[in-house]
Amino acid sequence: MTISTDSALLARIVDDLAEQGWSLQPLFAPQALTLELVDECRKRAAQGDLTPASIGRGAGQEVREGVRGDHIQWLDAGLSPACDQYLALLDGLRQALNRELYLGLEDFECHFALYPPGAFYQKHVDRFRDDDRRAVSAVFYLNPDWQPEQGGALRLYLADETTRDVQPQAGNLLVFLSADMPHEVLPASRERLSLTGWFRRRGDGVV
Ligand code: OGA
Ligand code: MN
Repeated sequence: MTISTDSALLARIVDDLAEQGWSLQPLFAPQALTLELVDECRKRAAQGDLTPASIGRGAGQEVREGVRGDHIQWLDAGLSPACDQYLALLDGLRQALNRELYLGLEDFECHFALYPPGAFYQKHVDRFRDDDRRAVSAVFYLNPDWQPEQGGALRLYLADETTRDVQPQAGNLLVFLSADMPHEVLPASRERLSLTGWFRRRGDGVV
């Protein structure tokens, strides 16, 4: 089965990114696919496939729960039909961003993430200091019936010094420029699931 995102939705993401550096789309994927990804993330977590995330990269990587408390599993092509469909959707977005904004995005790296209750990720930017390949971040949320009073928002720090809280509601896709948008994950009273990823440009990884 081939799967694609309708062109009006892709155009909204492109326009938002060009105008304000971020875009939130509430129903990015078909609902059946979203629910399959919810089930798959839960199943993988239950069977112990997700492991504590680290910060930094290469030899400088370390697990520090005081900075970042999520557990992750990286997606490789062929992991499951639902994951492959998600990767196909994001590849359509990658092509639209390249076509319309000339971003030269070459690939997409992505992981499941689970924040246990109380876990958070302190304010940060996604582009590493020593590697500028990450250009655009894309977070797809996998939490049906999320209530704002459960916490767990992704707080974006905008250029005009205001903040914007995005709810991790199932079906929401948040896209933002990796270098320009500081953000944090606030603690939640329930488990918080997502597929978090980055479109990367070509490069040798060293700035
Ligand atoms: C990250 C991150 C945001 C989220 O993994 O770098 O900021 O809402 N995740 O899960
Ligand atoms: Mn981040």
